[in-house]
Amino acid sequence: MPDVRHDSSITEFQQKRGGDSAAFFVPFLTPDMTLLDVGCGPGTITAALAGIVGMAIGVDIESNAIATALRLATGAGLANLAFVEADMTALPFEDETFDAVFFHAVLYHQSEATLTRALAEARRVLKPGGLLGTRDADVGGNILHPELDGVRLALDLWQRWYEHDDPKALRFGRRQSSILRARGFTPVWAGASYVNHSADAASRAEAVADARRSLLGLAPQLLRKARATDDEIQAALAGWDAWGRDPDAVYFRCRCECVARKD
Ligand SMILES: C[S@@+](CC[C@H](N)C(=O)[O-])C[C@H]1O[C@@H](n2cnc3c(N)ncnc32)[C@H](O)[C@@H]1O
Repeated sequence: MPDVRHDSSITEFQQKRGGDSAAFFVPFLTPDMTLLDVGCGPGTITAALAGIVGMAIGVDIESNAIATALRLATGAGLANLAFVEADMTALPFEDETFDAVFFHAVLYHQSEATLTRALAEARRVLKPGGLLGTRDADVGGNILHPELDGVRLALDLWQRWYEHDDPKALRFGRRQSSILRARGFTPVWAGASYVNHSADAASRAEAVADARRSLLGLAPQLLRKARATDDEIQAALAGWDAWGRDPDAVYFRCRCECVARKD
């Protein structure tokens, strides 16, 4: 069997996807910039951005994510790409190190205190005039069809979990400009785009796998806190399976985007 970690088609696919996720930020970037990708996960977006800026560094709190990202960097052979294990609330960098800081799918779901600390750290490591790019989900913008009962139930279970502390949690994306302005940044651009889970059977299967992973990950907590029953979780999983078998099913997931400056 080939070693999939170094399969160039996978690396190319990941880099293309990484590029899609950061496309809105690219017009703001130049080859002389040093960029920090916070909560970089497997590093696919960081690698795509390394093709545009002078130096790209990814940080993540998960050692497994950093190990995967380092394998990607080795496979991609990019000399201007580095990864560091670190907590975004205590970044291991000097003040005013970076021209650009990027957060993709990281700030959503964070507590108010963590959000404030992470953005204060981003502001500290940005140079004056430096740019912050953020892209995060907003379920209010999602387009899903058909809305089978089980799928509706799954959406309800996510809401029960994520909105138990903060009723606005699932509509994070649209609030990014105001969140960043409240923490001292000057928003300069806002937009939105969709992740397409509908193009073909493979992308629908990916959406089902994602939904299953998320529901099964939340299930123990939902059950422990009596926010769902096992029957509900099974019905939600079955709903997604049925959705995935419909060749006309579509799921477009909204991602809101914001660029803000440190003045
Ligand atoms: C949904 S993933 C997004 C990964 C990547 N940005 C992407 O979009 O492909 C969120 C990432 O944030 C990381 N993360 C969560 N809390 C963090 C923290 N306090 N410091 C650094 N990374 C953190 C997680 O480990 C995870 O890799």
